[in-house]
Amino acid sequence: MKPEGALAAQASRAGLAVVVGAGGGLGAALRAQLQADVSYARVLALGRNSELHIDYADEASISAAAHEVAGICAESGLELRLLLVASGFLHGEAGQPERSWTHLDMAYLQHVFLVNTLGPALLIKHLFPLLPKRGPCVATFVSARVGSIADNALGGWYGYRASKAALNQLVKTASIELTRRNPDSVCVALHPGTVDTALSQPFAKTGLKVRPPEQAATELLGVLAGLKPTDTGALMDYQGQTVPF
Ligand SMILES: NC(=O)c1ccc[n+]([C@@H]2O[C@H](COP(=O)([O-])OP(=O)(O)OC[C@H]3O[C@@H](n4cnc5c(N)ncnc54)[C@H](OP(=O)(O)O)[C@@H]3O)[C@@H](O)[C@H]2O)c1
Repeated sequence: MKPEGALAAQASRAGLAVVVGAGGGLGAALRAQLQADVSYARVLALGRNSELHIDYADEASISAAAHEVAGICAESGLELRLLLVASGFLHGEAGQPERSWTHLDMAYLQHVFLVNTLGPALLIKHLFPLLPKRGPCVATFVSARVGSIADNALGGWYGYRASKAALNQLVKTASIELTRRNPDSVCVALHPGTVDTALSQPFAKTGLKVRPPEQAATELLGVLAGLKPTDTGALMDYQGQTVPF
């Protein structure tokens, strides 16, 4: 039986879906599956190498991409029904996640907060005004269970944990404002589980359940399809279970 949540409800009014971070492992799989989904008349990709260029270090690029999206909506008559943000940073040139407080490093902290928190905040600023004021719409940000303060039993990964905890707070806060504007809206943070991408690759330990991005994308889209406005503001895992903040 088909789920009766927000995405299913909007199937009869095909709209526009925007995927941010579509060049990443999970983002590419999400984009491909959305393109095959009849719920969306069009899927747009935003990223550093996507059709609409954005870089979180440059707010003007986000504002320009939002103008483009608004123009496409106006021209096509499509409404922005899904915003899916799949960007994120854990390790790279800017540094590695910290195993101890002795590893705390300003450059790494600034970068992990830029990509995981500040960029998504600016997406809320520039793209949320484009979400429809009536009818179902979903805004979702891929976060991580390690951003849950209640769930932190292991310590470590100070910057990544803190940046994802702050993202969860942004999602909760924006969900309240979005509901005031459109009571049919849903805004959630998602934990994708461990997925086989460049982000997780150095940390994939034996015993961890690592899933291919295609499987994780199917599971996350299944969760989105079942969401209802009462779910808004939550952090949910790929099985649809609410994770405490
Ligand atoms: N993989 C896992 O096991 C796992 C577990 C828990 C949570 N997550 C979360 O899942 C999400 C997707 O991660 P992934 O595994 O697919 O990682 P990934 O393959 O490394 O993709 C990361 C994405 O972030 C984007 N990005 C990085 N820096 C950016 C910047 N300065 N401006 C704009 N975009 C930037 C990249 O965009 P470009 O295309 O422009 O490079 C890319 O699309 C992330 O939020 C991650 O924290 C992943």
